[in-house]
Amino acid sequence: MGFFLGIDIGTSATKAIVIDGDGRVVGSGTVEYPLYTPRPNWAEQDPEDWWKGTVGSTRRAIESAGISGDDISGIGFSGQMHGAVLLDSADRVLRPAILWCDQRTAQECDEITETVGARRLLELTYNKALAGFTAPKILWVRKNEPEIYEKVRKVLLPKDYIRFRMTGEYATEVSDASGTLLFDVKNRTWSNEMLDELEIPREFMPDCYESPVVSGQVSTEAASELGIKPGIPVVGGGGDNAAGAVGNGIVHSGLTWVTVGTSGVVFAHMDEVDLDEEGRLHTFCHAVPGKWHVMGVTLAAGGSLQWFRNNLCESERSVAGLMGKDAYELITAEAATVEILSEGLFFLPYLSGERTPYPDPNARGVFFGLSLRHTKAHMARAILEGVAYSLSDCLDLVRTLVPDVSEIRASGGGARSDLWRQILADVFKTRMTTTNATEGPAFGAALLAAVGVGHFSSVEEACDHCVRIESSLDPVESNAARYEKGKALYRSLYPALKDAFDRNAELLS
Ligand code: XUL
Repeated sequence: MGFFLGIDIGTSATKAIVIDGDGRVVGSGTVEYPLYTPRPNWAEQDPEDWWKGTVGSTRRAIESAGISGDDISGIGFSGQMHGAVLLDSADRVLRPAILWCDQRTAQECDEITETVGARRLLELTYNKALAGFTAPKILWVRKNEPEIYEKVRKVLLPKDYIRFRMTGEYATEVSDASGTLLFDVKNRTWSNEMLDELEIPREFMPDCYESPVVSGQVSTEAASELGIKPGIPVVGGGGDNAAGAVGNGIVHSGLTWVTVGTSGVVFAHMDEVDLDEEGRLHTFCHAVPGKWHVMGVTLAAGGSLQWFRNNLCESERSVAGLMGKDAYELITAEAATVEILSEGLFFLPYLSGERTPYPDPNARGVFFGLSLRHTKAHMARAILEGVAYSLSDCLDLVRTLVPDVSEIRASGGGARSDLWRQILADVFKTRMTTTNATEGPAFGAALLAAVGVGHFSSVEEACDHCVRIESSLDPVESNAARYEKGKALYRSLYPALKDAFDRNAELLS
């Protein structure tokens, strides 16, 4: 029965893929766009770029699949979570979208916690107020841009703005809504109490569906731009993490997943809702109806290596260009020449502040232990190791709620590196596997579409049919023992620097 389109509205690009009824990827297209940082700590994008990216990537995906747009039977979205797209009464975008990695809202987070009460906030939303979440962004606009706030009529998440452009419906689904801090995660519905407490009108929020449920149909106007037929059903889809988890088959209890993209995430499926009492982990609805997940986030995971590549690896970039290779291949090959523990060089990956386990917008990246002996190769390895330590901070917390983690599936650009996966296996002391889901969250979004139109009877059935383990890597015991000591030293660094991070932020303000 036809083909399914999955569209991921990412932070660096929109990616569209076409799968067939057996989950084989038969076409894909990617369109990149910029991220704007008009001030330190700010991160914004133009939603029009996402729409252009959607049109371009969809057309490319269909063309590369060698099919006609008429062959698409269902569409699913995934997307960067938490971003706020503000629309006026004529559905015009009022200001650039404020993104998940924007850290401007520390004060609003404090205000939310004070207004609602820390305990009640956890009871209602299963999360604590973090700078990346949506509600503090709305409050920031209300306080700092009142002339814009008074025109706001709808608040949409990034992928849901694209859904609106495609179908004319204001809709979202439970996994992405969970990251707004306005959602009753346990009961899977908007929290009237949160909306009332924060004085945000209920009408601002779109209708909310379970992730595989059809939320609208492609409009005639959008169909002609996208090169597909009008009326195709569009399902809820999922936030990029929930959709990526579906793509990797993380839909049963006991299954855990790590992704090393711009951000890094450790994600575990939960049959029953549960939370870290201190709110250090996020508890969100899963894209599997009636299920939840817990996750910890390292804000700059692949993002740390990307920063290193962009700013310190000009020669690797030009050599890679001449060799027709990816600069990351050369950088990780250099890192592989260095002994484990990078001869005493450590890296704290807090380039964008941090979420888990330290929800701290003032935290910053650090190389610790530099000596005359260290080279750029040591710095590269220290970055891979530092990100692995940070993800293991997340994993150790996840293990307190989901103790049975015997295998972790890995995905994302960073996890394509054998070296980085081995470091993760050694630091986690756990077997790392990979699946056939190499196309990221777009694959999970396409599977959700196939479920929504009835091609599969459930998300679990879709995953059982389409997701396979493709590789497996075990920890090396002697490495794991050395990393255990490295991890202890790494963990002592943030507490030692916390005060200095705050003073540094004051200097800049
Ligand atoms: C999750 C989060 C990130 C973004 C990245 O809470 O903020 O993983 O979704 O796209």
